[in-house]
Amino acid sequence: MLVLGLESSCDETAAAVVEDATRVLTDVVASQAEVHARFGGVVPELASRAHVVNVVPVIDAALASADLSLDDIDGIAVTQGPGLVGALLVAIQAAKAIAYARDLPLVGVHHLEGHMAAIQLEPNPPPFPHLALVVSGGHSSLIQVNGNGDVEEIGATRDDAAGEAFDKVAKLLGLGYPGGVVIDRLAKQGDPSAVPFPRAMTTAKTKDDFSFSGLKTAALNRVREHGQPKNEQELADFCASFQATVVEVLVRKTRKAARRLGLDHVQVCGGVAANSKLRAELRKAGDEDGFAVYVPPPKRCTDNAAMIAAAGYHRLARGERAVLTMNASSSLPLPSGAHGA
Ligand code: KG4
Ligand code: ZN
Repeated sequence: MLVLGLESSCDETAAAVVEDATRVLTDVVASQAEVHARFGGVVPELASRAHVVNVVPVIDAALASADLSLDDIDGIAVTQGPGLVGALLVAIQAAKAIAYARDLPLVGVHHLEGHMAAIQLEPNPPPFPHLALVVSGGHSSLIQVNGNGDVEEIGATRDDAAGEAFDKVAKLLGLGYPGGVVIDRLAKQGDPSAVPFPRAMTTAKTKDDFSFSGLKTAALNRVREHGQPKNEQELADFCASFQATVVEVLVRKTRKAARRLGLDHVQVCGGVAANSKLRAELRKAGDEDGFAVYVPPPKRCTDNAAMIAAAGYHRLARGERAVLTMNASSSLPLPSGAHGA
């Protein structure tokens, strides 16, 4: 089954065609990073407008690059939420229009369900049940994945998401938007023990939850007290110390949850899963504790439509159909209960 996936929940307009949730035929992502860079974060109204401009060219480019036409498509999957409502609506309207005009089945997909499905596009994906660390610009969660469309959130951030912390600290340091990838690069030359940052949420009561706002404030206070890093080495040290703190908390909580739940397969996904230190440290923890670690390639960690098509395939295969009155939902609940293809 060839599924056309569409995604516009934040600042990427994306279209992809995936066969049976395994083989990616085409995968096009138009980033709006330049539109938002000078604001240091995503401006919702500008995001919606850019999606409107980009959505049809992106779909056309995706189909053309694989020598496909809409005649070849068997079903459509689109991100229904969570995300920016005005942004989500653009791909949803495009998906509905194509579904209606071509009489194709349509399903809405939860954005995090998409992130967790990205690993299915790789050889040897994790079996069910497994643990997923989902870390993006909007979410930081530990999720037990029991099957396709059947997940259970066991912990989440109580304030900022991990990616948001990366972006805000990058903005504080004048490194531009999005900041995660820049901090990742600069941190490679830095000393991770140079700046002492607080490790939050480590008590038994808050065991599976995260908190990154204290770390963000500590970074701000550090700059207030000591001024901006004075040279390249100080900047690299700041980035390495901040990154090491985020990664340490993420890895510590993930390995504890895996052990407690008896899950010996762990995937990490979402934009922050592109972080080289997180990938390396989680692999090291897996080697030490005896769990297998699964990480999508960096381009499938950040937002894309191949992951939406993969997640949508399972819904379509189960016979799910969205109605043409489907609406965007900024707070769509995670899917639970459906075991299937
Ligand atoms: O999944 P994603 O593309 O969008 C959301 O669903 O939010 O994640 C974007 C986030 C941004 O905060 C970005 O700074 C972060 O992922 N990110 C990274 C890296 N690449 C992207 N964070 C740390 N290290 C990276 N290499
Ligand atoms: Zn995302």
